[in-house]
Order: sequence, then C-alpha cells, then structure tokens
Amino acid sequence: MCGIVGYIGNKNSVPIIIEGLKRLEYRGYDSAGVGILEDKGAEVYKREGKVSELESEIASLNLDSKIGIGHTRWATHGVPNTVNAHPHFNNDKTLLVIHNGIIENYSVLKKSLKAEGYEFVSDTDTEVLVNLIDTFLKKGKCLLESVRLALAKVDGTYGIAAIYKEEPDKIVVARKGSPLVIGVGDNENLIASDVNALIAHTNRVVYLEDNEIAEIYQDKFSVKTLLDEELKKSIEEVDGTIEELTKGGYPHFMLKEIMEQPESIRNSMRGRVVLKEGSVKLGGLHGYEERLANSKRIIICACGTSWHAGLVAEYMIEQYAGIPVEVEYASEFRYRNPILSNEDTVIFISQSGETADTLAALKEAKRKGALCVGIVNVVGSTIARESHTGVYIHAGPEIGVASTKAFTSQLIVLSLITLLLARKKNMSFVEGKEIAEAILELPDKVQEILNQNDMIELVAEKFVKANNFLYLGRGYQFPVALEGALKLKEISYIHAEGYPAAEMKHGPIALIDEKMPVVFIAPSDSVYEKVISNIEEVKARGGRILAIANDDNGKIDELVEHTIKIPSTLPMLMPVLSVIPLQLLAYHIAVKKGLNVDQPRNLAKSVTVE
Ligand code: F6R
Repeated sequence: MCGIVGYIGNKNSVPIIIEGLKRLEYRGYDSAGVGILEDKGAEVYKREGKVSELESEIASLNLDSKIGIGHTRWATHGVPNTVNAHPHFNNDKTLLVIHNGIIENYSVLKKSLKAEGYEFVSDTDTEVLVNLIDTFLKKGKCLLESVRLALAKVDGTYGIAAIYKEEPDKIVVARKGSPLVIGVGDNENLIASDVNALIAHTNRVVYLEDNEIAEIYQDKFSVKTLLDEELKKSIEEVDGTIEELTKGGYPHFMLKEIMEQPESIRNSMRGRVVLKEGSVKLGGLHGYEERLANSKRIIICACGTSWHAGLVAEYMIEQYAGIPVEVEYASEFRYRNPILSNEDTVIFISQSGETADTLAALKEAKRKGALCVGIVNVVGSTIARESHTGVYIHAGPEIGVASTKAFTSQLIVLSLITLLLARKKNMSFVEGKEIAEAILELPDKVQEILNQNDMIELVAEKFVKANNFLYLGRGYQFPVALEGALKLKEISYIHAEGYPAAEMKHGPIALIDEKMPVVFIAPSDSVYEKVISNIEEVKARGGRILAIANDDNGKIDELVEHTIKIPSTLPMLMPVLSVIPLQLLAYHIAVKKGLNVDQPRNLAKSVTVE
C-alpha cells in the first residue's frame, strides 16, 4: 500500500529517498512527500501526484540533508491532496512522522488532543499520531520513549518513521501490522516498507516484527519491544538485483512481467521436479509433508488473483490427492468463526506476503491449531515468516499492480504440491511422471503463446470500444474466466464478469447482444462439447465471441469472431497457458485506451489495510 523510505548517513538523503520512493510507487501513489532535518529545523516538501512531480518541484531547491524520511501515499483517511500527504508535522513543526496503516481510534484521540489545544490541518489519522507523540515530548521524554508511549494508546495498524529536530542523529521506527525493514549499510542506514527500496544500497536487512520499535543511527541501530524489552535481531542477506526492478526495455512493467513468464515459471519449478521418482521435492515443506498429506481438509485462503489460483488448486488437489478443499476469501474467513482443528491445513497464497486480510486469517488459523502453509513470492515477507511452513514461488519482483507472473508461478507451485500429495496418497509412478513431464514442458508452451503477441494486439484493437465483457469457462477454466475478467477491469476500467459457462443461462444470458463481447476459454477437455453448446447459445443471440482454444481444435473457428490458439497440456495445467492470452488482451486494450497499466487508479499493489 503506502511506501516508506528513510536514510541517515554521510550522503544527501533526498535523492536516495526520491529514488527509493520511485521503487515503491507501485504500492500506492496518490501523493508523495519528503521530510528532512536541516540546520534551521525540520522541513517538509510534499504534493499530490507522482513522485516524479515531487522530484521536479524540489529539484531547484538543492536540498541537502544527511537525514530524511519519505512517503508515497494511498489514501485511507482524507482525500488524496497535498495537505493530506505525508510527512505530517506536530503543531510546533519540530517532529515529522510518516505512517502506513490505520489508527482506528483516531477520532477519540483527536478529540482529546483538540481539548488540550492541538490544531489539525489535515484529515489524516497520522496527524493525530504525530501530535500524540508530541504530548510525551512535551513531558520531557525522548523521541523513542514518546513514540513508544503514544503507540500504547493507539488501536489499529502502523508502520511508522519519525524524525525530531531536537534529536537529529536518529530515525525512530515502529511496526504493528504494516511492514518495516532496516537496511544496514556501511556507515549509513536506511529504513523502508519494502526491501525493493533498499536493494540499490545494501542487501543486509533486519525485519522488524509486530510490536517492535527501533532507533536507527548512522552507524548503529537498536530494537526493543513496545513493552520496552531489549531485543537482539539478526541481520539477513537478501537476494535480488536492481536490474530486476527496472523495465528492461519494455514500455510497462506489466508487459515485461507477462513476457518473463517462461523464465519465472521455470524458476518456480527449478530443482523441485524429480522425474525419476515421478514426484517433487519441496524443501520448504520438509518435516510437514506427512501432516499435510494426512489433513482431513485443506482450506485455501487468499485475496484477488491469489484467490483465483486457490480455486484452480481446489480442482487439482481434489482430483488427484482426494483431500477435500475449500477456498475462502481471506477477508471473509477472518471475520467469521471458522471451524478449524489440528487435523486441518490452511494454505495462504499471497504474492506480496503482506496482504492484511490474509495475514489476519493466518493468525486466526494458527490460533486454532491448523497447520499453516504459506505460498508467497516476496522472500522474508510477513506471511512467509508467520506460516509454520511454506513454499516460495520465486517469480521475482512483481511491480505492475495487475498480478500476472505471480499467478502463473502460484499455479506451478500448487501443481507441485498436488503432485507431492497425490504421490503420498495413491497416485502411480507412471501418472506422477506424466504430470511431472507436463509441468516441465510448460515454459516452452508459454513462450509459444507469447510469440502471438502481435496477433493478440490486433484482436484487442477490435474490442477496445466495448463497455462490458463476459468471460466464461468451465471446470479448470472457470477460475481463469474470473482472472481474465479481473485483469481487464482493473487496468482498462471496462466492466467485466467471469462466470462458469453453464451458469450463463441462469441469468447473464439476458445481457447478451451485439455489443457484448464474450470470451470463451474452451480448450479440448472433458467439458469441451458442453462449452461449444454454450458458444452456440451466445451466437444465437448475436453476441461477439472470442475464444481461447487448443491448436488441434478446428470446429470452434467456424463459430466465433476470433480464436486465439494455445498448445495442449493436461487439464490441471491448462490454466497456466489459457490465462496468458487474457493477460495480453487486457494489457493491449488498456494501452489502446491510453491508460496507465502499471498504476491503475485506486489500486495498490500490496493491500496492507483491511
Ligand atoms: C490483481 C491483484 C490483486 C491481488 C490481491 C492479493 O491483479 O494483484 O487482486 O492478487 O490484492 O494480493 P497478494 O497476492 O499480494 O496477497
């Protein structure tokens, strides 16, 4: 969601913070700001809009400060404008705070601060927090202690950073429910809400846990709990290169990430498929395989695209491993009283590993004794660390807000887990080997589809003026229909619905006319003939039809306006292929509409608020 960056050292903090904010801009981006300490005091520069606009605005000021904090905002309290942008000042303009998360009791706190004489210029909960900290500074407490005591009065979630004119040698940070990481440099230290903002400077990091607070100096740092207990934290080394975070010649991150999929899914399976055993080896699950395979029930919890990957897994695991599976929206799961026991396994799927709803569901499942398995992309993220065990998808950094390569890598890892479980149950070696071979063939097949990009762009041209779309598929293709519709609506702002194809006649068929494009995902599988009947039904009502079908499938061409052909594979793996044309279709339609595909309106990459 919002992004936090801070620097303290010998260099000018301002360009370092601006560059870090740009790397975080995909997380939230309606306004940005930088706060620094100078000889004359604390200063803030902020504005509505993109980090590059802030950068141009301050360029001529030649700011130079060895300590600073910066923020990109995704509005929660108050409209996105300059006044509401972070950092926020206390009334005396000596203290600056940036904050990710939500202070739930902010209105009560604001009322009592107003009664004490504090005035507020913004609508934000953060301005309440900065003045609350100020009340303790006024009582003579140091910055660290003031932040700690203020946070004790706060309900809600936060990742915060504070700098104070009277203590210009430190940044104080704290975390509860919103990620914060310290980057340990050589006579300089950084802080950020995401490792991506630090990687250009250091790969040595310390992850702050919930309810921890830290004081960061140029040459040292110390961490304690919010209950004032000293902690000894270990420094971890993270992988990743700065090249992975750039567009590599593509006009958008989204296109780069779509095109990277042969490589990203290869990385997801690398070293994990054991052909000679017709099985897989997943180091992350070591010691938990038996408990997982003997689960009475598997529940999959996730949000958005990750939830769609979970739906595919439901079909796979039930078909091959014979374990009952339920797929839950994390946001719903956490707010009911789910019946769970230590015989259940809950799988949490999350690209970012920081989604607030998924994390809260994880905590609830853990509390109730279920085995918690994380399937996560971002190494070291909270969901990865809080799960009992798990498997990284290794898709590499995903910057485009619309998830693409993470989805296909999630499907790969879920197919590997299915194979592992099925082989532990009663799948034969021959069948296991057939699936393993089919998984290994996927990267080349994905490449074949990507080679049709120019043709898919031409198809997109024909549909760019549509105001509504239906996406229909059955069986393994139903979740793909949902994912195709989500991709289109989030980046092109065209209303799109995904449905199981056979459900169409129970309602959506009423929408069909010559203005309604219908995308059928119709590979040659056990329900192919039935999908053809659904296509006939749409055609009879004048709907415009685009089909995703297999190479060997001539019949469909006669029925539809366009067919995009994809190679064949096992039905359980087909979603890895059938989603690719839908990603490209959504991308090209959005680009042709002149929209910002990497940063669609109102969306943030990592949803760290409820
Ligand atoms: C859609 C998209 C979102 C995310 C969802 C969950 O393109 O990106 O729907 O899938 O917010 O995010 P993660 O996987 O990070 O938990």
